[in-house]
Amino acid sequence: MKHRRIPTLGASRSLSSLFEAFKNPSAFLLKLSCAAGDIGEFKAGPVHIVCVNRPEWVQAILVEQASAFRKMPAVKTLSVFTGDGLLVSDGATWVKHRRLAAPAFHRQRILAYQAVAAQAAREAIASWQDGQVIDLEREMKRLTLTIVGRALFTRDMNEIAEGFSRDVDRALDYVNNLSGRVTLPVVRAIAQREREGLAAIARVDAAVRGLIQARRAQPAQADFLSMLLAAQTEDGESLSDDEVRDEVITMFVAGHETVATVLTWLFYLVARHPEVQAGLEREAREACIAGDTQTDGSFHRPYALRVYKEAMRLYPGGFTIGRQAIQDVPVGDYVVPAGAWVMISPYSMHRNPAIFPEPERFDPERFTPENERALPRAGYIPFGIGPRACIGGQFALMEGQIIVSTFAEHVRLINITPGEVGISPLVTLRPSRRIEMRVERIADKR
Ligand code: HEM
Repeated sequence: MKHRRIPTLGASRSLSSLFEAFKNPSAFLLKLSCAAGDIGEFKAGPVHIVCVNRPEWVQAILVEQASAFRKMPAVKTLSVFTGDGLLVSDGATWVKHRRLAAPAFHRQRILAYQAVAAQAAREAIASWQDGQVIDLEREMKRLTLTIVGRALFTRDMNEIAEGFSRDVDRALDYVNNLSGRVTLPVVRAIAQREREGLAAIARVDAAVRGLIQARRAQPAQADFLSMLLAAQTEDGESLSDDEVRDEVITMFVAGHETVATVLTWLFYLVARHPEVQAGLEREAREACIAGDTQTDGSFHRPYALRVYKEAMRLYPGGFTIGRQAIQDVPVGDYVVPAGAWVMISPYSMHRNPAIFPEPERFDPERFTPENERALPRAGYIPFGIGPRACIGGQFALMEGQIIVSTFAEHVRLINITPGEVGISPLVTLRPSRRIEMRVERIADKR
């Protein structure tokens, strides 16, 4: 069968597009993907990127032909921080570690984490005064880091190591900027940022190694950390401290900023849609009246979940899924050649009007069970799909639902940020500037 030539993306080769690519590779990749239609390619020197947006081809790449791809090399920059953890590893290491980590994310474990998420959400609310102005993204990061720490490691990392959450942020910022750094002149400001970034990584590393050593000396707990320490492969091999360290840091990285980013956008959207805020408050109030406030595994707030899924549609925390073809791979009428990078973006996929009519409109009703069932396979992919899909997807859905509903019971977040806030695509889809909210206590106003 004769294959068609992949259409060239308009921006290819121009000097300005190369400059854009060096300045912020993530933003550039996202722009390419949004311009690609079903499929499009960008070539510059040795770099060959193929953007794919058509659901059935995405399904073919991520699921049916998954073994013909490895993680995109750009993703590997993260390993400066996460080592060879699940996010970046490939081959036998990935297979072994994914298998060992999986039990911590089984349904029963996720249900057990509900109380942790609810308690942390209540503590966040209690720490705010009525009328206080908060930096929304910072508060969400603090909250989600607390939840990951307590749920997976039975510890609040900020209590173990002062400034832990700030250091994780700094380290991530450093990793985010790494690809740009090589191309820029080595000016003092950058050297300073480099020193700060590496120092933050070293402090996180020390805190996590301390956590591992302390746990080795203590009785096992029913958590992810003890599970990793006790884990043995079929050949009786257990994980080294370095391997455990990589997976622990990976969970902090993968499990907190993504959720925090989605929640930041969610509260920004909800503050601009009073009817959605009213719906959330109604659901929380009715659950309270019915005495349904348990977080013992039975917590279920269908409307809060719909709002969370719709926020993730518009602002998927992980907005790029990158692969590299190991061999020539036929995709529809085309061939993705060996070595090419494949870029799949939940962000552009979720804005396809053929899948989501009026895609810019924020409408949680898109995620009623009937509407969700009608979506095409691979049409909604905030957690990816296939063997490399997010291991924490169910965790994130549980956590988001609980935080949104617990907030709706107690507080209203009023947006006081002037003007529109745009996106700043780095590792996650961050807001381009600080979003400020005024906290209004609902109970105080009744
Ligand atoms: C709204 C929140 C989240 C979003 C949008 C998200 C999204 C994603 C995406 C798109 C991937 C990559 C899929 C691929 O390359 O095919 C991924 C992988 C991963 N995520 Fe998440 N994630 C979220 C929350 C979490 C949480 C809460 C955890 C853990 C506590 C987590 C842990 C991971 C890990 C370990 C991987 C690598 C899995 C592997 O390659 O085996 N994520 N996530």
